[in-house]
Amino acid sequence: LVAALEEVEETYIMIKPDGVQRGLVGEIISRFEKKGFLLKGLKLFQCPKELAEEHYKDLKEKSFFPKLIDYITSGPVVCMAWEGVGVVASARKIIGATNPLQAEPGTIRGDLAVQTGRNVVHGSDSYDNGKREIVSGSKKVKCVHGFRLRHPGSG
Ligand code: TYD
Repeated sequence: LVAALEEVEETYIMIKPDGVQRGLVGEIISRFEKKGFLLKGLKLFQCPKELAEEHYKDLKEKSFFPKLIDYITSGPVVCMAWEGVGVVASARKIIGATNPLQAEPGTIRGDLAVQTGRNVVHGSDSYDNGKREIVSGSKKVKCVHGFRLRHPGSG
């Protein structure tokens, strides 16, 4: 476990349409920069419905799925790739719990949001999902020139 935490990884972080519309892009980027992670790629992107459905395909059967897709496609999102030691898990901590009312103060959602359906930011929940979210969404990934996902352990 200790070894795993010390690996340099890359993860996919997306500022959702409410975060962009509320002018929180700088604030959110700043939190990852100050922590010490490296911004590897960034794109302001209007997500097409099909790509949003692909991105959230694990949640397809959930009752909130149609609303989630409407929300994610309601305006531009900021797609980012971030690199750093243990960045996948650490970014999830920085983002906070899915329901912003349960997210700890000090986290992005804990400080900046109140609704699960408007929780301002997405972060991959695992290395494999990060890879899928960046690589399989190749239309999105073009934003990240020279970006390659390195498997933990491959240096
Ligand atoms: P999920 O992957 O469970 O959470 P997280 O974003 O913290 O990884 O869910 C994805 C998004 O789906 C979540 O950020 C907001 C939305 N969502 C709802 O709208 N209602 C819900 O009850 C849940 C669980 C999620």
